[in-house]
Amino acid sequence: MTHVQSGPTCTQILAWFGADVIKVERPGEGDPTRGQLRDKPGVDSLYFTMLNSNKRGITLNPKTEAGKKIFRRLIEQCDVMVENFAPGAIDRMGFPWETIQQINPRMIYASVKGFGPGPYEDCKVYENVAQCTGGAASTTGEIDRVPLVTGAQIGDSGTGIHLVAGILAALLQREKTGRGQRVTCAMQDTVLNLCRVKLRDQQRLDLCGVLQEYPQYPNGTFGKAVPRAGNASGGGHPGWIVKCKGWETDPDAYIYVVMQAQAFPALAKVIGHADWLDDPDFSTPNARLPRLTHVFAEIEKWTTTLNKMEVMAILNPLNVPCGPILSMKELAAEPSLRNTATVVEVDHPQRGKYLTVGNPIKLSDSPSDVQRSPLLGEHTEEVLRDVCGLSDADIQAAKAQGAI
Ligand SMILES: CC(C)(COP(=O)(O)OP(=O)(O)OC[C@H]1O[C@@H](n2cnc3c(N)ncnc32)[C@H](O)[C@@H]1OP(=O)(O)O)[C@@H](O)C(=O)NCCC(=O)NCCS
Repeated sequence: MTHVQSGPTCTQILAWFGADVIKVERPGEGDPTRGQLRDKPGVDSLYFTMLNSNKRGITLNPKTEAGKKIFRRLIEQCDVMVENFAPGAIDRMGFPWETIQQINPRMIYASVKGFGPGPYEDCKVYENVAQCTGGAASTTGEIDRVPLVTGAQIGDSGTGIHLVAGILAALLQREKTGRGQRVTCAMQDTVLNLCRVKLRDQQRLDLCGVLQEYPQYPNGTFGKAVPRAGNASGGGHPGWIVKCKGWETDPDAYIYVVMQAQAFPALAKVIGHADWLDDPDFSTPNARLPRLTHVFAEIEKWTTTLNKMEVMAILNPLNVPCGPILSMKELAAEPSLRNTATVVEVDHPQRGKYLTVGNPIKLSDSPSDVQRSPLLGEHTEEVLRDVCGLSDADIQAAKAQGAI
């Protein structure tokens, strides 16, 4: 019972792990993402196909009489029910948690909502709302500029992945107790969990008044809340994005360099600053803190003489942690990601071949085989017969009612 991104992300991972995932969609329309951001007329969008692989698809309206009976049967037969509709939607269909538990005490009922219990619990939430209300936007962006959202879907996909962990824990628990339970994940909570280091910094700021590793130190000013810090590292070693050769025309000609303390001597030498190693202003991490802008500017003088891959090839053997800014174009073509099935080409009967991101979680005994997403209602009859035990006459009657 999932739509859009957060719920489908969760069930897609479960499907990759081998679950028989039955996606239940509204007859006639289906998941709204089938028709959103379409690149080919009349064909399921990439938005949909990339979030619903390895699932079977049925149409069913649990608001009809016949639909309620079938939905009840599904609850009896299935192990896990996942939903991410607006608050109260499943209750309004006549299936609150108490009813689900009565029908199948072993059922694990997992939900994504925008907020947990509190003043906002009834609100509908999309990705960027979660990024804004969970602390990500406030702490992301250029110094003294507007808050920024990130392209990584930490609210939607992030919450779906958190929900997977809850479902697997509940399944393991059910093995011991025989009882199912309710699993809930709020998108605000997930984003805050992923912004944990920023709540760390808030408490450090409250105590110390400054954050020494932030670019605002020592010349800028700190307010009462953790500020946006450009590309500063969130960890114990300073880092920054520096330009590489070709940056004037290539928007991705950059590399992130982490100035890890133990690798600093090698980094200083390779950029032509062996002098820093004997200079008390630069020789220790604490001495460098107020001079980070200057140090990264010097590093950049060197990186702009090389392309980002050359920089990486030189810095990696020196144990300097660094990462080129890789575009989607580069990632789509990266052979190593194809070899590990992280980027997979799938064939679809309507749209032909397309790329998707495969399972990023690798199990040695259980590799994931990525299959295309289902067409709307593709498996309705097969599931109603095999899982719900309906006869052909029952199926025809449900069809006549518009239940399927
Ligand atoms: C994502 C979200 C904002 C979308 O809102 P929306 O498009 O207005 O959709 P809603 O979830 O409100 O409503 C879905 C409706 O379709 C109905 N519906 C869903 N599946 C159905 C089916 N198979 N048959 C009949 N009706 C169905 C629901 O019952 C609901 O109707 P109701 O409001 O009359 O009870 C909202 O679902 C939400 O906040 N979800 C929780 C947070 C979340 O997951 N957000 C991220 C999405 S990536």
